[in-house]
Amino acid sequence: MKYDFDTPVDRRNTDSIKWAVEKDELPMWVADMDFPAAPPILDALEKKIRQGVFGYCDVTGDWYNAYISWWAERHGLAMKREELTFCTGVVAAISSIVRKLTTPNENVLIFTPVYNIFFNSIVNNGCRVLECPLVYDGEKYEIDFADLDRKLADPQTTLMIFCNPHNPVGKIWPGGDMMKIGQLAKRHHVTVISDEIHCDITVPGKGYIPFAAVSDICRDVSVSLMAPTKAFNLAGLHTSAVYVHDKTLRHKVRRGLNTDEVAEPNSFAVAAAVAAFGESGEWLDEMREYVFANRRYAEEYIDREIPGMKAVRGEATYLMWVDASELLSRGKLSDGDADLAAFVRRTTGLFVSNGGVYGKEGKNFLRINLACPRSTVEDGMSRLKRAAEAFAR
Ligand SMILES: Cc1ncc(COP(=O)(O)O)c(C=O)c1O
Repeated sequence: MKYDFDTPVDRRNTDSIKWAVEKDELPMWVADMDFPAAPPILDALEKKIRQGVFGYCDVTGDWYNAYISWWAERHGLAMKREELTFCTGVVAAISSIVRKLTTPNENVLIFTPVYNIFFNSIVNNGCRVLECPLVYDGEKYEIDFADLDRKLADPQTTLMIFCNPHNPVGKIWPGGDMMKIGQLAKRHHVTVISDEIHCDITVPGKGYIPFAAVSDICRDVSVSLMAPTKAFNLAGLHTSAVYVHDKTLRHKVRRGLNTDEVAEPNSFAVAAAVAAFGESGEWLDEMREYVFANRRYAEEYIDREIPGMKAVRGEATYLMWVDASELLSRGKLSDGDADLAAFVRRTTGLFVSNGGVYGKEGKNFLRINLACPRSTVEDGMSRLKRAAEAFAR
């Protein structure tokens, strides 16, 4: 490999949320990577710093071109410059869109278990969460389309938030599923927000399909949210893009982003995105190789060494979704996943996310972040094994 993903970076005492932990603790929870950003991104940021003046700045032509070329070349979606708007983050965009496109108490549908902040963006902006639980057969997750149809048909349901690919279950959605979602959304006059922040972290050799690329219907009923922040580890820079094809919908969304004051970049947001999409493709491909090797290692480790736990096979994201229902069924804890995550942390210092925060369907699961050096994954897995052994005793 050309890039070094093996050498640990000491992130303690660096104002990192993830690494604000005790000395012997190992954080494998919040979704950022323990890898330094790609060299072209670091160069672009250093250049910015050397300019030494950080006045108000604008979104440049390079920024539009970087997104347009990347999505055309990597993901087969043709976007035009006027269809893109800068936003300070994906969550900022989601919250703004919920505020702008709904009236209080309307339903916003989500497929659960799902990224926990979707719940906050809905509830904190005066709407109701309408859960459409994914169906889990013990190995994989599917959409219950009859349930989806029924829930979208409710006139109080006006918006849905789709996670493509899906955090935390790691699913790359098939085109056929998205085609059906688009048809149902159109039939029932529901707008789809497609959060595509994890789209570049897919198993090597396999891509995702942008929701808007599936069909004209999907394109016309949706708002797509894109960003370099997960794939290139730039979450602290607050940079994303909002893509809307339909003119009327775009006008509304853009007015919302502007009046919420989340459509203006900071001094580093544009340069970092340009360097990521423009020059860091090779780094990304190596990172995917590395992270999916971590995934295979961790999955096989759990299969082999930890009875009572099972890693759900994911094809996207660096987040492993671990089914601990068998271990939990031994009934020693009172509160499912939260207790298990707390137990793991208390007994071994390993800090992972408890699945219940992603919806009640996640309650017997743990989510573990594998975007770190292999030595960290090895340490994490042996701690998990120790915790499971202690739990079973
Ligand atoms: C599905 C999903 N959307 C959005 C975000 C956060 O996006 P941002 O940092 O741009 O607000 C995350 C972070 O983990 C995520 O998993």
